[in-house]
This record gives sequence, structure tokens and C-alpha cells, in this order.
Amino acid sequence: MASFGVFRFLVLLAALVWILAEERNETRKLYPWTNGSWFNMGLLEFEKWSNQPFLFKEKSRFCARLRGLTPGQRRVCRRHKDHMPVVSSGVKQGISECQYQFQGRRWNCTVTGDETVFGPLTLIASRETAFTHAITSAGVSLSVSRACRDGRLSSCSCSRAARPRNLHSDWVWGGCGDNLEYGYKFTEVFVDIRERERKVKRGSREQGRQLMNRHNNEAGRRAVIAKSRVTCKCHGVSGSCSLITCWQQLPTFREIGDFLKDKYEGATEVKVSRRGKLRLSNPHYTLPTAQDLVYLEESPNYCVKNETLGSYGTTGRQCNRTSSGMDGCALMCCGRGYNTRRVTVKERCGCKFHWCCRVECNTCVKTTELYTCK
Ligand SMILES: *[C@@H]1O[C@H](CO)[C@@H](O)[C@H](O)[C@H]1NC(C)=O
Ligand SMILES: *[C@@H]1O[C@H](CO)[C@@H](O)[C@H](O)[C@H]1NC(C)=O
Ligand SMILES: *[C@@H]1O[C@H](CO)[C@@H](O)[C@H](O)[C@H]1NC(C)=O
Ligand SMILES: *[C@@H]1O[C@H](CO)[C@@H](O)[C@H](O)[C@H]1NC(C)=O
Ligand SMILES: *[C@@H]1O[C@H](CO)[C@@H](O)[C@H](O)[C@H]1NC(C)=O
Repeated sequence: MASFGVFRFLVLLAALVWILAEERNETRKLYPWTNGSWFNMGLLEFEKWSNQPFLFKEKSRFCARLRGLTPGQRRVCRRHKDHMPVVSSGVKQGISECQYQFQGRRWNCTVTGDETVFGPLTLIASRETAFTHAITSAGVSLSVSRACRDGRLSSCSCSRAARPRNLHSDWVWGGCGDNLEYGYKFTEVFVDIRERERKVKRGSREQGRQLMNRHNNEAGRRAVIAKSRVTCKCHGVSGSCSLITCWQQLPTFREIGDFLKDKYEGATEVKVSRRGKLRLSNPHYTLPTAQDLVYLEESPNYCVKNETLGSYGTTGRQCNRTSSGMDGCALMCCGRGYNTRRVTVKERCGCKFHWCCRVECNTCVKTTELYTCK
């Protein structure tokens, strides 16, 4: 009987040691637990598959084959197959707006082409990573809200938002508006599920990352709502404006991009507390609101190529000789200097309009100088 007791004790001890080892391992693991990210939806060519309606039928198993989704996201996908092309187009718009906003910066939102989309840089909890989360989540939110209005999704339609209180009493509320509420809710479920479905140690780096991602995803969704507005239109015989209807209207993607770029510039550094909450890393900073971006780690300088980090470096990047901003040669080239190249460009110039309807132009040859980082 005594030996049985010892045996039980040993088994328990072994289990305990194993659990402790696993836990230690968890905090050291830098790599994500699924391959890639749902950002990968933005690299898929759903347009090409639109002539294959069976893909989106009940029985189809295409959700299992979309790379980058977590198990929870696959479940949402199975319930809402028709949303996936819309999600994809939202992420696409997010990525291209990111590239527009960052075109003159060292990190310019380069897409790597694998299912991580932005490469190993997303493993760093930096401002740039914060921006990618906000802009893609805004993209999906916007895209779904618009798709509802356009009747492209089975589970939603035009907005049913309540009439704004300050709307003129003669005006009619309820043109078919963008369904902001549905877009927000769907994005919250589909995007944030990734950050909730895995238990991680409270106060760990990984938990900090989950909280950071959720905060920035929310900031992206809020940006869509913050920039949307009520729009009205006149009806009546030859613009007599005898009837005015108003509805909820989404902002353009550029407005969201500009807004989030400002939030990026003013992003707040935070840390995760031992109790598992985000706290200011410096108590003198102002508290971020739900619309602000937060990050946990300083950015690398992106100056030199480093494949481990996923940084491309700025050698060969074009810069502006006279600008003192990030696109200027001094900052872009990180003090390494730049090469000057004279190029001749042909332009259309001196265009004349001939009634009706022809435009004639001359071709002018201009030489300009291009500057690229050493
Ligand atoms: C930690 O994890 C790695 C890879 O997941 C594994 O190879 C290694 O054996 C683990 N170490 C311990 C102490 O469990
Ligand atoms: C990630 O990809 C590797 C190699 O392609 C594969 O062996 C592994 O099973 C994948 N992991 C997950 C969680 O999909
Ligand atoms: C962004 O950076 C990459 C890598 O340095 C470069 O190849 C690419 O041309 C840049 N894109 C733009 C739009 O400047
Ligand atoms: C790349 O960055 C990592 C992490 O900062 C660093 O340890 C490594 O030395 C760098 N590699 C090169 C080639 O600079
Ligand atoms: C370079 O920067 C200057 C000053 O910011 C600006 O006026 C000019 O348009 C820029 N040139 C190009 C080619 O972007």
C-alpha cells in the first residue's frame, strides 16, 4: 500500500513539473500560435471565385481552407460565408490605405506575400503594428456596413439607426443608410475573437499583446463611426427641394486613413500590469481613449535590412532632398547619404480644348533629379 502512495506522489510531482515547464515555455515563445493572420484575407482573390457560387453554399468547406484564420474565425466564417468576400475587400482597402499613408516613411507598409501579410515585424508590439490592426479593422467595418446597405449580405440590410435628435423636423429620416451598427458588431466578433479564444497567463507579454490588439481593433471601428455623418438630399420637381431625406453615410476611406494616421502619431505607450490590465508606461502621459492607438514596444528604426526582424532597410528608397520631414533624405537615409540621378521625363503640356470634344497637348521633355538612399 505504501508503494502505491509513493507512486501516486511521483505521478503528481511529474505532472506539476510538466505544468510549470509548459508555463515557463509559454512566456518565452515569441512566435504566433497560428500560421499567419486574418490579414491574409486581404491577399485572397475572392473576385476570381465569384463565378463559383457553390463555394458559398451551406455544405461548402471553404472556410477550412482559408489560411490565416483561427478556429474561432473559421466558425464565424462557416456561419457567414457570404461575408468573406466583403471582409477580404475591407482588408484590401485597409492595406492599400496603409501604403498610401506611409509611402514617405521608412516603414512603408510593405506586404510580404505570405499569410502573415506584414512579415515578422508584426511580432513587435510597435506603433506600426498598432496601425495595421486599426486600419484593417476599420476596413472590414466599413466594407460590411456598405455591403449591408447594398443588399449584398443575407443577414443585414439598410441602417435602422434612430433619427438624430437635432435633425430638422420637416426632413424625412430613413433613406437607405450604411449599416454602421452591423458593421461594427460583425467586425468585433470576427476580428476580436482571435484575441479572446486562447487562454494566456495573466500579465504575460502575450496577454499584453491581446489587449493591445483589441484596443487598436476597437480604435479602428470607432474611427468609422466617428467620421460617419448624416447626409441629406433634395427631391422634388427640378430641384425644388419640396422633400428632403436624410440617412447615415460612411466616411471615405481616405478620411479614416488620415484620422488613424493622426492617432498613430499620437499613440500612447502602455505596459501590461501583473493583474492583466493595460497601464500607462509613464504615469505622466495622458490616458488614451477608446479612439486612440496604444503600443507596448518601441519600434525598430527600420534603417538597415534585418531579415530576422523583417525590416527591409531604406537603401534604394527614394527621398526628397528639400524636405525636413520623414520623407527627406536626412531622415529616410538614416544619415548614410543619398545618390542623385538625372532623369528625363516626358509630360503632356500646353493642352488645348477644342469644341467639341477633343483635347490636344504637346509633349514637353523635362529633366529632374531623383534621390535615392545609399
Ligand atoms: C518549449 O517549447 C519548444 C517548442 O514548442 C519545445 O521544443 C521544448 O521542448 C519546450 N521546452 C520545455 C522545457 O518544455
Ligand atoms: C504552420 O505551418 C507549418 C509549415 O507550413 C505546419 O507544419 C504547421 O502545422 C502549421 N501550424 C498551424 C497551427 O497551422
Ligand atoms: C516600400 O519599401 C520597399 C522596401 O524598401 C520598397 O521596395 C518599395 O518600393 C517601397 N514602396 C513605396 C511605395 O515607396
Ligand atoms: C537583427 O535584429 C535582431 C533583433 O534586434 C538582432 O539581434 C540581430 O543582431 C539583427 N541582425 C542583423 C544582421 O543586424
Ligand atoms: C519635397 O519637399 C518639399 C518641402 O516639403 C515639397 O515642397 C516638395 O513638393 C517635395 N517634392 C516632392 C517631389 O515630393
